Amino acid sequence: MASVLKVVLLGESGVGKTCIISRFTSDLYDPGVLTSLSAQFISKTLEFKDLNQTIKFDIWDTAGQEQYRSLAKIFYKDAKVICLCYDITSKKSFNELKDYWYEQQTKLNVDGDPIFAVVANKNDLYEQQQVKDEDGKAFAKEINAIFQSTSAKDNHGITNLFENIGKKYFNPNYDTNAIDNKEKEEYEQKKNQKIQQKKQITAPANRGIKLSPETVKKDDKKKGCC
Ligand code: GTP
Repeated sequence: MASVLKVVLLGESGVGKTCIISRFTSDLYDPGVLTSLSAQFISKTLEFKDLNQTIKFDIWDTAGQEQYRSLAKIFYKDAKVICLCYDITSKKSFNELKDYWYEQQTKLNVDGDPIFAVVANKNDLYEQQQVKDEDGKAFAKEINAIFQSTSAKDNHGITNLFENIGKKYFNPNYDTNAIDNKEKEEYEQKKNQKIQQKKQITAPANRGIKLSPETVKKDDKKKGCC
């Protein structure tokens, strides 16, 4: 029989909570997704073959907009898993996550001892990164949470997030942050490749251009001058 885990995603409006959920549950990404005006839930079951276990995740998407903040407590109070999400391109979303969503909300109001995860979303936008992964990891360590870097757009780290949650659920001592998994390596490789490609494109344009004898003469004259 499957274990059932209630998971709630929290964080500022626009960090990508809805997109993370639809990527995980339906493998869909909608760049034009509308802001959530209320909370809703959707389920997905994952098998943990090595452990011979199954988890049905009941995932609650909450509205991050300020006017709905006070409602969030109703949804996360009895959650077994709380995903605190921020956008790596927004320092504000990270600060609010720590100072509001954690300190003033979940830390004070949750029942029991839920699993926490800190989710650093939009990692495809690393060129605009305002929050270093080290800072996200440090916060996760401080509150004994899983840290997961994700991109709902590129489908990176999303399944990993839920796999790590499951592993931690079955074994509370499981150190998900110590895992150097294949997905992380692939992400780093992809990121470096993109940076290299960009460097090549923006390299000085006159490389390899043959100068006419006239231009060479002019240049020679310049060298001789003064
Ligand atoms: P609220 O419902 O207002 O609380 O927002 P939310 O946290 O649910 O954010 P949502 O999923 O609606 O995404 C907000 C915007 O960010 C949308 O335009 C998405 O397309 C975009 N977005 C979400 N995830 C990613 C991602 O991984 N990468 C990029 N580049 N954009 C993303």
